[in-house]
Amino acid sequence: MNKNLRKAVIAGNWKMNKTPAEAAALISEMKPLVADAGCDVVLCVPFIDIPAAVEAAKGSNIAIGAENIHFKASGAYTGEISADMLTEAGVKYVVVGHSERRQYFGETDQTVNLRTLAAVNAGLTAIVCVGETLEQRELGYTETLLKFQTKMALTNVSADQLKNIIIAYEPVWAIGTGVTATAEQADEGNGYVRAAIAEMYGADVAETVTVQYGGSMNAGNAEELLGKVNVDGGLIGGASLKAQDFSVIVKAAGK
Ligand code: 13P
Repeated sequence: MNKNLRKAVIAGNWKMNKTPAEAAALISEMKPLVADAGCDVVLCVPFIDIPAAVEAAKGSNIAIGAENIHFKASGAYTGEISADMLTEAGVKYVVVGHSERRQYFGETDQTVNLRTLAAVNAGLTAIVCVGETLEQRELGYTETLLKFQTKMALTNVSADQLKNIIIAYEPVWAIGTGVTATAEQADEGNGYVRAAIAEMYGADVAETVTVQYGGSMNAGNAEELLGKVNVDGGLIGGASLKAQDFSVIVKAAGK
């Protein structure tokens, strides 16, 4: 197991927060704080914020991501956004299959797979989210579920395309709750994800894939979580809305 084989990536997921003007202001505040990052830095922002965010991040080491992508190239899909729209706007990353989309917007393992394929086919890096609910954990299904969700999401993704995939293990019970997984639980969950990738692509390939942890990661717990061998970065919700807190997490990933 060699962490140096993969990129450390810290990504913020702003969810439904910040107007375009607020986005520009927050990114301007963050830029100097993360300028010497020892990891890749990404901010995934609401669609409407993308132009302002791309402009504000220009010339910095912050890449801008979206929070969703549709799997069709164009057509009668009211309210959806295509890969071409995102790439033309300067987006480099996209969150796919976040548990909030699975829970509130009918996202399924099939649509997560289709969206993942749309992203990588367009040259975007997909940050694919997997994670168990508390009930599933208590029933003892964590490993089964994480492996299933990972394999479903990666169906028909080639080994070459896998270079543009990050998997984020986000236990649903740890998202926005202030209840963080222990570093051991995060490492174990990320390990199940890596094992699923190994079963599909072989162990050598699995060693190169960035697997993030997400769920109440913050300035106080980031270093311990990121110190684990299977935790290659973080997908950060609440703490990515505060420049100081986010920069502390970025620094922890570079250690
Ligand atoms: P919190 O960091 O607010 O728990 O959110 C995690 C998350 O869902 C990131 O995608």
